[in-house]
Amino acid sequence: MKNIEIIKLDNQGRGISYTDNKITFIKKALPKDIVDIKIIKEYKKYKEAQIIVIKEKSPLRKKPPCPYFNLCGGCNFLNLSYEETLNYKEEKLQNIIRKYGNIEKKVKVNPSKNCLSYRNKITLKIRRKEIGYYEEDTHTLLKIENCLLAEEPIQKIIKEIKYLNIEEGEVVIRSNYNQELLLWIKTNKKVNPDIAYLREHHKIVGIVLNDTCIFGEPYLIERINKQIFKVSYDSFFQINRYICEQIFNKINNNIEDSEVLLDLYCGVGTLGINASKKANKVYGIEIVKNAIINAIENASINKRENNFYLLGDVGKSLAKIKDKIDTIIVDPPRAGLDRKTKEKIKEYHPKKIIYVSCDPMTLARDLKDLSALYDILTIEGYDMFPFTHHVECVCVMSRR
Ligand SMILES: C[S@@+](CC[C@H](N)C(=O)[O-])C[C@H]1O[C@@H](n2cnc3c(N)ncnc32)[C@H](O)[C@@H]1O
Repeated sequence: MKNIEIIKLDNQGRGISYTDNKITFIKKALPKDIVDIKIIKEYKKYKEAQIIVIKEKSPLRKKPPCPYFNLCGGCNFLNLSYEETLNYKEEKLQNIIRKYGNIEKKVKVNPSKNCLSYRNKITLKIRRKEIGYYEEDTHTLLKIENCLLAEEPIQKIIKEIKYLNIEEGEVVIRSNYNQELLLWIKTNKKVNPDIAYLREHHKIVGIVLNDTCIFGEPYLIERINKQIFKVSYDSFFQINRYICEQIFNKINNNIEDSEVLLDLYCGVGTLGINASKKANKVYGIEIVKNAIINAIENASINKRENNFYLLGDVGKSLAKIKDKIDTIIVDPPRAGLDRKTKEKIKEYHPKKIIYVSCDPMTLARDLKDLSALYDILTIEGYDMFPFTHHVECVCVMSRR
């Protein structure tokens, strides 16, 4: 099909147009591009297409600074200005909460201080000793030598990951506030890493092979707003340190003195520890064992004597907490809150709920489910993942 004009972007960052009166999603297209396309799938209500040729480039198009752009699929907006990406995220967030949450509110997205070199964790794939990312939507390896989204120490070590001598598998690389690195190798083949060489050139604090620490310690130390967090190789930690600080501040501004808090999906205890300077008591629940061990240690490191942690599924473990709860902080994975968890939250009926979300769709659904009992005080986006279509949100709700 020829000379198709792209009207706008969808929630996944794909271009939208109409062909034969049917909505058509076109990957890698930008608003105001004029393109020739090939339909690759047609469904009852929509079509998917790919670009054959861009006839007229959108005035929004910029030259992407990365040679792997449009190949690895990691950051689909490196061909837009940062400002445009923020406009897109604000509009997307606003549309989603209106359509799926029945919420009419103007939302803003807080920018990231670093819009490149912000990721403190990446995962590289290794196939026949070649190192890279998978090409978008495939298991085909795309060899890479750099990733502009990663923090500087990670960018530096990518070129030397070959010294780990891994044949097949993957390596998770994490960096911290002090430019230190933790490497987690996952493979079922034998490896023979040149640890001496890597240590000579990089600040490596630990190397873990599958679940065994083969050098240093199996964790690194993070510091956010003067608080210290031990993070084991398999525990979750927020990807963008600057945005994590902003979210900490937002939460703190909404906690009153002497509260009893619930920190659900607590990871290594970050949000609850951060919020508990003034609190009476904090309960955290998390499903990853090493993360909960980290949370217990982190509460002690940060001198929080009244923090208590439960290992387990939130939906199942919540009922064990019998205290009267003032505020519930939730930070679930993309799937959002399950039915059982929402029912239990309604039973606790806390005066405030602070919902941290990495998926506006499930956030909107959950806000709708809670809307009979709660008013939304604020809902804001945070650009945790610059130059991608993803957006982090924090919503503060108050009991009606
Ligand atoms: C988005 S992270 C948030 C972690 C933490 N709040 C933070 O800020 O670092 C979600 C966390 O939920 C945990 N998790 C996922 N499913 C869970 C479940 N069903 N029950 C308890 N924890 C779960 C994950 O292991 C992860 O640590």
